[in-house]
Amino acid sequence: MSDKVIQVLQPVYGEEEAAAVAEVLRTGWVGLGPKTRAFEEEFAKYVGCDYVVGLNSGTAALHLAALALQLQPGDEVIVTPITFVSTVHVIRYCGATPVFADVEPDTLNLDAADVARKITDRTRAIFCVHYSGHPCDMAALHSLAEPRGLYVVEDAAHACGAEYKGAKIGSTSELTCFSFHAVKNLAMGEGGAITCNSDWYARYFTQMRWLGISRDTFSRSSEEKVYAWQYWVERLGYKYHLHDISAAIGLVQLQKLEANNARRREMVGRYQEAFADLEWLERPVEKEYAKSSWHLYVVKLPTQRDRDAMIRHLKALDIAPGVHYYPINLHPVYKDIKSEVPVTNAIWKRILTLPLHLGLTPEDQNRVIEAVRSFPVGAAC
Ligand SMILES: Cc1ncc(COP(=O)(O)O)c(C=O)c1O
Repeated sequence: MSDKVIQVLQPVYGEEEAAAVAEVLRTGWVGLGPKTRAFEEEFAKYVGCDYVVGLNSGTAALHLAALALQLQPGDEVIVTPITFVSTVHVIRYCGATPVFADVEPDTLNLDAADVARKITDRTRAIFCVHYSGHPCDMAALHSLAEPRGLYVVEDAAHACGAEYKGAKIGSTSELTCFSFHAVKNLAMGEGGAITCNSDWYARYFTQMRWLGISRDTFSRSSEEKVYAWQYWVERLGYKYHLHDISAAIGLVQLQKLEANNARRREMVGRYQEAFADLEWLERPVEKEYAKSSWHLYVVKLPTQRDRDAMIRHLKALDIAPGVHYYPINLHPVYKDIKSEVPVTNAIWKRILTLPLHLGLTPEDQNRVIEAVRSFPVGAAC
């Protein structure tokens, strides 16, 4: 057996990122400054949107999106339960009520038919997640939202570089939230951004990420001959801004993103081919409208018993799989919400995330493939 544990997700940075950080440290400006601005401009060009506001996490992006919609107690927001908890917490931060809609059994994305069933006269918004990097059926969600005046917020934490009908995710709704956390497709350590096409939203997010202050320190230093000390606090904002150390890493990662996503796609192709004859293993799909960014490679086992036995089997072979996610509606903090999500409640028991990241060598992948293929399905006890 190898002494190397193969992780399900793993951060991978190169010398270029290290050099970019060193350069920022040498300039002496490490806060919100020129690298943040450059990243925002480059990411807007890449995604094809008018504005990008750089933030310190995907959670901050989702929170500011929820605040911009002025969600308040009494409002309902329809949201997927198969996500990281941030997507749902931010609804509660505003005092609004999350309403869980079920997921499609193949993509695990929000099921538009169930969203339609969950809409009431209190519904204000739909928060969808492009699970594992596979874009949601945005036409179906927008066709529900638009006639009713509902907002659609996309959680694109997994979907950096993904495309919906040929358009990059980040350009297809009013507000899209990205995470650049350490293991994401575009990774900065910690970071996030919100993309939009409205000047009002962009100005709102720019103030809200900097405690509601009218002009950030960099503007006051760079646009005036002498540092302009005066500022006004116009909103009750947060300290959510992206800073230049992370942004410098992000600029390098952005240059690599297309190639890195192509490598992920190649690795997924190998898995798909290697598991094609395993009738007991359900492989992930890619719908005709979607180009996935393949953040996660998620398979389904026939039963929870098999899934849990597969986890033990892989761990014994020094392979660390994951489960994305234990449904949010089942967590103690959300137990008070009555939710009818039968597909979610059944399917999470069968899902398993196999290792997929840029540190995975062809030999590592062979080990994962052999381990999965050697699993004695049905023999679980
Ligand atoms: C689907 C989803 N939404 C939101 C987030 C939150 O992003 P961050 O960790 O940058 O706050 C994550 C991060 O794991 C995520 O996977």
